[in-house]
Amino acid sequence: MKGTADFIKMKLDKEKIVMVTAYDYISAGIAKEAGIDIVLVGDSLATTVQGKNNTIGVTLEEMIYHTKIVKSALTDFFVVCDMPFMSYQVSSEQALINAGRILKESGANGVKMEGGELIAKTVKKITETGIPVVAHIGLMPQFINVLGGYKVQGRIESQVERLVNDAVSLEKAGAFMIVLEAMPEEAALSIQSNISIPTIGIGAGRYTDGQVLVFYDAVGMLDKKPPKFVKKFADSRTLIVNALKSYKEEVKNGSFPAEENIYK
Ligand code: KIV
Repeated sequence: MKGTADFIKMKLDKEKIVMVTAYDYISAGIAKEAGIDIVLVGDSLATTVQGKNNTIGVTLEEMIYHTKIVKSALTDFFVVCDMPFMSYQVSSEQALINAGRILKESGANGVKMEGGELIAKTVKKITETGIPVVAHIGLMPQFINVLGGYKVQGRIESQVERLVNDAVSLEKAGAFMIVLEAMPEEAALSIQSNISIPTIGIGAGRYTDGQVLVFYDAVGMLDKKPPKFVKKFADSRTLIVNALKSYKEEVKNGSFPAEENIYK
């Protein structure tokens, strides 16, 4: 199994780190079979599996449940679980208790938290306890009600300076990896040149140490147009819809079940 030191080594060796989200046994198994380096049970669980408008409503219990089933396919594999909104913001103590619950109850190997310098104290407390933390800055979907939409960050100098400060504080606090979401690649480069932990981009351009995509976006299963930074590496939705259409047609015309599907 890869550990935090392996991801840092991959950065040093200039080997790109590939992360994808997974939410269940099937998607996790597929990610492993494809040779993905690290799996994230993202709180995008809310907007994909649960069909919600944003990630605010997903609960700690739901994150633990999905991470547990992901881990049943990935026993020997580094899995990160997103800490959902309001599971780490009230106090560092509560954050530590909840991060501990995630590791103990789901089997996750680390947690991810959205936020900059303001959560550095909490990140420190959690990492000092032996829980690996992935930080997440730039566009932070848990701030949707402040941002008023999923908007690109780091387009102006003052924002880039703040992002660099955030990244530096999170590294100092012990985060072993940082997700950079939705920013011009120049902003990602500025962050990257000020820290030594691996950067994982999602809509942050070409120069980060790795990339992360939401499973359903990458395989083309969603029913809506994905954001600009997504590449649909397959059109699985069409493939599956066609498979179900064939199933329906064969049941209707009596060609399924066929001889080979019948018990003797
Ligand atoms: O919840 C999620 O899936 C994420 C990734 C997109 C980084 O936070």
